[in-house]
Amino acid sequence: MGSRIVATGRALPRTLITNHDLERRMETSDEWIRTRTGIGQRYTLCSGESLVDIAADASRIALERAGLKASDLEAIIVGTVSSDFGFPSFACQLQHRLGISSIPSFDVAAACSGFVYALSVADSTMRAGDWSRVLVVGTDALSTMVDWNDRATAVLFGDGAGAVVMVSEPGARGVLGSILRSSGEYWELLSVRNRGIQNTIDAEVKSSGDDAIKMKGPELFKIAVKSMEEVTRKVAERAGVPLAEIALVVPHQANLRIINAVAQRLGLGEDKVFTNVDRYGNTSAASVPIALDEALETRRIRDNDLVLLNACGGGLTWGANLVRW
Ligand SMILES: CC(C)(COP(=O)(O)OP(=O)(O)OC[C@H]1O[C@@H](n2cnc3c(N)ncnc32)[C@H](O)[C@@H]1OP(=O)(O)O)[C@@H](O)C(=O)NCCC(=O)NCCS
Repeated sequence: MGSRIVATGRALPRTLITNHDLERRMETSDEWIRTRTGIGQRYTLCSGESLVDIAADASRIALERAGLKASDLEAIIVGTVSSDFGFPSFACQLQHRLGISSIPSFDVAAACSGFVYALSVADSTMRAGDWSRVLVVGTDALSTMVDWNDRATAVLFGDGAGAVVMVSEPGARGVLGSILRSSGEYWELLSVRNRGIQNTIDAEVKSSGDDAIKMKGPELFKIAVKSMEEVTRKVAERAGVPLAEIALVVPHQANLRIINAVAQRLGLGEDKVFTNVDRYGNTSAASVPIALDEALETRRIRDNDLVLLNACGGGLTWGANLVRW
């Protein structure tokens, strides 16, 4: 028995911040941001908004499309590093927001790789026969963790949530395999102290240098390209699938230059790689499920297509999932 993604959904905060809005706040330019990252705009959580509400909206959309009720779920797994609380987990808060109780709900903390990790955990537990209907969510609000005076990080991140409903199913369709990796020795390339969501872009108090996201961009860039290439090759190889047979790669949307460099190393043309980083920025664990939802909406994915998801993020963590749609 395998696991299949039967529906997806996405939801975003209300506030749209363009590069031109950022030009008015800091020493930067639309041209710099676009050429270095491919980002043109991002949605950011503002005071009074709750990321749990946004994740619940994405989840309800996915559940409705799956023809299921929240009460049909047997587990909730959330890839996130953006809980307001050290505990309870984001997943427990989401479960409560969806009006259900008792089922196991937990977070997977793997930063930008959170969704790829969570999907792999869901698939393994479903294969083991533990649960047959699982909600997997990727959600983050890294815009609330940046120092808005640090132009090198402030321009990169956006917020949001993507959700998928997975169902146990026999047959050839579904998750074919996943590969997960991490290297703690690189933890200082991208990190933030745990303090919950408090510094929305519109708030009076901005994060001080000490508790804001710290990033060594150029080093991270190089490792991200190499690691995403490696894990993509590996997951395809393990499944016995030539890369040329992959219909669409849906990568973590951190930076268009990273995405293009990985595609080039893999010999994949632009038509085989989905990108939407221009409209969302780097939404961390939300980026892969948001992109997946858009790829389905725009009919870039058809039944039986081979779809590859990959990501790299703080930890460092990285991983890939191969799915027969
Ligand atoms: C962050 C990143 C876009 C920076 O691009 P880069 O080409 O490496 O740029 P550098 O950091 O070398 O900085 C180049 C110059 O631009 C400046 N700069 C940095 N941010 C800027 C901004 N927002 N606007 C204008 N100038 C900026 C720097 O101060 C530096 O100026 P200097 O040469 O006078 O010192 C790039 O390193 C990157 O994308 N790294 C990966 C980040 C990432 O994706 N993280 C998440 C992974 S999950």
